[in-house]
Amino acid sequence: MRPFSGRRILLGVTGGIASYKTVSLARLLAQAGADVDVVMTRSAREFVGAVTFEALTARPVHVDLIADGHALDHIALAKQNEVIVVAPATADFISRAAAGRADDLLTACLLANASPVLIVPAMNDRMWSHPQTVANVAHLRRLGYAVLEPGTGPLASPDEGAGQGRMREPEEILAAVARFLEPAGALSGKRVVVTAGPTREPIDPVRFISNRSSGKMGVAIARAAKRRGAEVTLIAGPLEVPVPEGVSVIRVERTSEMADAVRAALVGANLLVMAAAPADFRPRAVAGAKLKKSAGLAPIALEQTDDILNSTRDARPKGCVVVGFALETNDILANAAAKLESKGLDFIVANDATETGAGFGGDTNRVTILTKTTKPETLPLMSKDAVADAILDRVELLWKDGASGR
Ligand SMILES: Cc1cc2nc3c(=O)[nH]c(=O)nc-3n(C[C@H](O)[C@H](O)[C@H](O)COP(=O)(O)O)c2cc1C
Repeated sequence: MRPFSGRRILLGVTGGIASYKTVSLARLLAQAGADVDVVMTRSAREFVGAVTFEALTARPVHVDLIADGHALDHIALAKQNEVIVVAPATADFISRAAAGRADDLLTACLLANASPVLIVPAMNDRMWSHPQTVANVAHLRRLGYAVLEPGTGPLASPDEGAGQGRMREPEEILAAVARFLEPAGALSGKRVVVTAGPTREPIDPVRFISNRSSGKMGVAIARAAKRRGAEVTLIAGPLEVPVPEGVSVIRVERTSEMADAVRAALVGANLLVMAAAPADFRPRAVAGAKLKKSAGLAPIALEQTDDILNSTRDARPKGCVVVGFALETNDILANAAAKLESKGLDFIVANDATETGAGFGGDTNRVTILTKTTKPETLPLMSKDAVADAILDRVELLWKDGASGR
């Protein structure tokens, strides 16, 4: 099978050790039928030979804007490709790209390009976590570039630690490229409602009860649904991350406000994904003035907030697929299975709040997807963007196979 037959990909290679893995990626892309134009930086050529890529892609490799007195048409090169993948992306390249430089062929192609860009960083863990790199990566994301987060695990040089910085495996990069090459708008015409982030329940005018949710998972789902052509409404508590372009956002604070917003947004919805972590408890009485330290400790009586999935159940349009999340610390699968049933869900995405790299705050997650009809499916540790795509792939399959199963 050659799923990328006739598709054009610009593969940027920069000067990091992981470029040896990009040789396999070039091979996989070519085997999948893609026409791959490799653009190497000067330092990348110190790590792998251009001839290797030429042999694998059966196309010339480009390095310089001007070679032998002739200018290379970087505008045409950028325009004719459907996706640009930079793997490995060095810290130096990321900083040049974030600054909008165009002092070599690869960065010039980036500026001349209007297609999706996938950046696949690889570097020493200290370089990856340096505030400069963190800021540069965040800036690239704001510009709309997709970033396939490095994994943890042994880095290429034997004397390096095992922190985050290891380039994703070629097969994982191939899967990410495949998503960019999917027929545009697989969700076009669908109305998708996503909730994200925590809610806050006030104690007094300055204090509240909340939780550690960052909103990254819900935002990743909204971004992925938008990219697939859906009309997306994101109902968001206070988020730690920016909202994706082109998504309608309804900001809420309290759980009851989130429930009201979900009820209103469900009109005409085809999919509801409840990725928020609404506060389950609220103070029974909210103090009208700031509680004074000098007044001493008084107990705060709590009561339960609305369960949003249950309280809005009657507002779900017929056939609306409903996906819930279960963040648990123990008996994860049993608790998730019970929630799937009691809340009338099509899928539940379970994760373990105690596991490193999963749950709140981080950029990665390890989830198990449960449905009423299939065996629990545990996915490997992956970026929240990749988890979002995995969930939407399964929703699309459900639609392909017929009704929502409820
Ligand atoms: C042996 C060696 C390995 C390197 N590996 C990496 C790496 O994995 N990631 C990285 O960001 N930089 C790495 N560097 C540093 C880059 O090669 C350097 O920053 C260079 O300027 C990158 O140029 P480019 O981004 O134009 O390809 C390495 C340097 C050496 C000498």
